[in-house]
Amino acid sequence: MTEHLTIVDHPLVQHKLTLMREKETSTAVFRQLLREISQLLAYEVTRGLPTTGKQIDTPLVPMEAPVLAGKKLALISILRAGNGLLDGVLELIPLARVGFVGLYRDHKTLEPVQYYFKVPEALEDRMVIAVDPMLATGNSSVAAIDLLKKAGAKNIRFLCLLAAPEGVARMKDAHPDVPIVTASLDSHLNEKGYIMPGLGDAGDRMFGTK
Ligand code: URA
Repeated sequence: MTEHLTIVDHPLVQHKLTLMREKETSTAVFRQLLREISQLLAYEVTRGLPTTGKQIDTPLVPMEAPVLAGKKLALISILRAGNGLLDGVLELIPLARVGFVGLYRDHKTLEPVQYYFKVPEALEDRMVIAVDPMLATGNSSVAAIDLLKKAGAKNIRFLCLLAAPEGVARMKDAHPDVPIVTASLDSHLNEKGYIMPGLGDAGDRMFGTK
């Protein structure tokens, strides 16, 4: 993947995203759409995974056919909203290893503070896909990727549903080697840090907490 930012402009992705943005969309439908869209985004973010030839027999002839090569990839959910993307991606890649990074924002310093970190072993040998639906300021994404690199990860991609230009710029500055795949680059952040026009608080909308 050579682009720093890939926007998946496929009509199915864009249609589902529009339904998710609508404020009348229920929690159940929002969750279902997120599951569907995450699989379409996963298809794009895993483009370029290495394959190797395997000798198989079709009902007609033997052939050498491609299968995924190397260590199983690692999906890292940035809590809590990352879990909404994780489910769908895991359905597409059931053999992936899974990790979790929990960060909260300190109210005084406004810096992200780690409260949970559990990731698969041998991160250095895996493609690592960090998932978080909303790339807003980029503070928590940058911090999560800092932690993943500290744990050994070298080949990291970032998958989100919506991105703000501010977050993309922050990521490019801190982690230019981490390609970002998203369904939309929205306009800007508002004064409360929400992506505009956005879809509101992704965690609240997927878990029904507001
Ligand atoms: N997190 C969200 O859930 N929504 C935003 O718009 C920004 C950050």
